[in-house]
Formats: sequence, structure tokens, C-alpha cells
Amino acid sequence: MAKNQALQLLGGLTPAEFLSGYWHKKPLLIKNAVPGFKGLLSPEELAGLACEDEVQSRIVEEINGQWHASHGPFDDEDFAGLPEKPDPKHRWTLLVQSVNHYLPEASQLLQQFDFIPHARLDDLMVSYAPDGGSVGPHFDSYDVFLLQGQGKRLWRVSEQTDLSLVDGAPLRILKNFDTAQEWLLEAGDMLYLPPHLAHWGIAVSDGKTDCMTYSIGFRAPKNQELATEFLGYMQDKLNQEQTTLAGMYEDADLGLQEHAAEISGSMVAKVSAILRNIQWSDHHVADFLGTYLSEPKPDVVFDANKKTSLSNFNKQLVKHGIVLDLKSQMLFTGNTFYLNGEAAAFTGEAAALLTRLANLRVLSADELGSSLPVDPRLLQQLHLWYLAGFLHIND
Ligand code: SIN
Ligand code: CO
Repeated sequence: MAKNQALQLLGGLTPAEFLSGYWHKKPLLIKNAVPGFKGLLSPEELAGLACEDEVQSRIVEEINGQWHASHGPFDDEDFAGLPEKPDPKHRWTLLVQSVNHYLPEASQLLQQFDFIPHARLDDLMVSYAPDGGSVGPHFDSYDVFLLQGQGKRLWRVSEQTDLSLVDGAPLRILKNFDTAQEWLLEAGDMLYLPPHLAHWGIAVSDGKTDCMTYSIGFRAPKNQELATEFLGYMQDKLNQEQTTLAGMYEDADLGLQEHAAEISGSMVAKVSAILRNIQWSDHHVADFLGTYLSEPKPDVVFDANKKTSLSNFNKQLVKHGIVLDLKSQMLFTGNTFYLNGEAAAFTGEAAALLTRLANLRVLSADELGSSLPVDPRLLQQLHLWYLAGFLHIND
């Protein structure tokens, strides 16, 4: 990633300037961030996705000032129940998560945001709304780039510190919202918002082209979640290692206690000493992060590829190259590579190839061809990942 190259996507800032001046700090409006961008799918295609079982989607409605939220999968009847023409008394928005899992163009769009580490990327959410539709004034806990597709959206932002929410609403709506600034975004314009900044995006339609917004969202795990997950990881590690906590509680020095029911100070001290053997290093933390952050979300399923022999896979691999499945998450730390929660360690040429695959999600036949024959252990690993449906032969 060229840190010092000015990007149109960032309004002429370099990634380094954006990171130091704006990221996680303050909003940035970028007119014409993606020239010619009109969106990646039609409202009908988005509605089609929202009807699929494995796709996470929501319809948010504001009916006579009351908020309602329903979750997909939806069917034709659900959509037929929504007003056909904009109705100020009944406004609505359709939101579809992880569109990058279903659309190669969406995954390519995310690649443009490579100046933020993949470990922080969450997904591409796409929304559709007729005139006046919104999810209400709210704040998110995540950084987000809001790229306007077709139509227009009026974004209001507020620097208010009063983040109290409407009681009993099915989604987080701010009780009070004081607009500090507002911008009308058109196709290709983009707004970056840091976490916890109050905002309100209202669809603006000329009656012909309704609003579609592409949210490039970044995840930030809660400290509590990191701790809970890490302790689970350490528990597995200790069970596998068997050596760190070998032995058992011993008390050849047991003295007579006044109260048989009392847990003595001596017992507490002995157990404390045993538990102090549970220690971790940055190596454990790195391994935990690789596994945890590349783990697919619970609703993600991979379709296994058709069984093929190792030698046949090898032939296809060097002829066509490989590409990660759209749902795959690949990260690395040091020489360990993590694909969808599975770890594999490689060095040298194999590690260089996997680094490219992790960064770019694709390895061309030429790249593989330049290091023939493919390292047999790498070939085996790629074959296993191929069979699991984590990666595919390029078409
Ligand atoms: C939307 O696209 O309708 C809402 C996105 C957001 O406010 O986070
Ligand atoms: Co938001």
C-alpha cells in the first residue's frame, strides 16, 4: 500500500494523512470520491438478496413517528406491504449486510480501502430507501465510510455529547438530535464518520432514482469480548499443552486446622502459585488474534468444492491461479497464516505467496508459475482449503 500517494478516494489526502488527521477522530466529506460510481446492484437485486436464507437483512420503518424493525429473510409479501409511493407517514429503508460475500464487485470495492488493515474490516452494507427513508438519528460504535450509490442522501451530523436513546425503540434512536452540519451526497460522494459521532442520513429522491448507500464498516472488538475470547483460547492451549500445569495439588505439609470447613490461607497460597504458571506472551496474543479475527461469523457457511485429487488440483492451480472465496477472511502474523480460523505456518517462497494471497485475495497462474514446482506442503494446504471451499480455482 502506497502510504504517501494522494488518493481521489480520500479527497486528495494520502492514506498516511487520512490516518493521522481523521481516522477514528473526525468526519471527512469527500466529493466525487469514486468517480462514475452509480452503485453495484439495483434495488431489485438488493431486495432479491434480502430474500435469501443466509443473508442478514433488515427493514426499518417509521410509521407515524414510531420506529419498527424486522429481520429477513423477506418475501414478496413483505415488500408488497410497503408503500409504493413516498408517504411521509410511512417511511422505510431496506438494509443488507455483507454484500461483499455475494458480489465480487463489492469485494473489489473493499480492496480500495486497503489502507486500513483487513483485521479491522467488517463488511459492506447496502441500504435502499425511497424519499425520506432513514434509520433515524443515531450513533455507531464503528468507523464507517458512507459511499453514495444511486440517488442522493442528506447527511446530518452533530457533535452533541447527549447520546441518550429513545426508550423502547427496536433500534437505537437518539432522543435529541442537534444538527451541526449537513451535506447532500450524490452518486460517488463519500462521508467518513468516526465512532460515536451522532448522524442521520435521510434519503432524497426525485421520484425516479431512489437512494442507495454503501457502508464500508470497520469492526472494533470490545475489550470485554477480547478478554473473554482470549481466556477461551488460553483454556484450549492449556488443555493441548498438558505441561504448563502438570502435576496436582500436594499438601504433605498439612497442619491441623481449627475449623475443618475452612479453606486455609495455605491452600489459597498453594493454588495461587499453581495458577501463576498460566502465563502468556505476545506470541499467544498474535496467534489468538489470527484465529479469532479470521473466524467466520456464525451465519457464514462455505460450500465445499468438488473432490479432486492433489495432482489434478496442482495442474489447475498452476494453469489458472487461485482466488479466495468471497466469504473467506485471511490474515497473517509473522510466518503464520490464518484462513477462516485455521492456522498454517510457512516460510520462504511459500510464505511470500501466502502473503500475496492474504493481501490481494488472489494468486495468478504467473505468480505461482514463477516458483515451480509448488512447495509440496503448500500445495497440500491449498488443496485442503480448496476442498473446504475457502478458495477456488480462478476462472
Ligand atoms: C443507511 O445506509 O441507511 C444508514 C447507514 C448508517 O447511518 O450507518
Ligand atoms: Co450509522
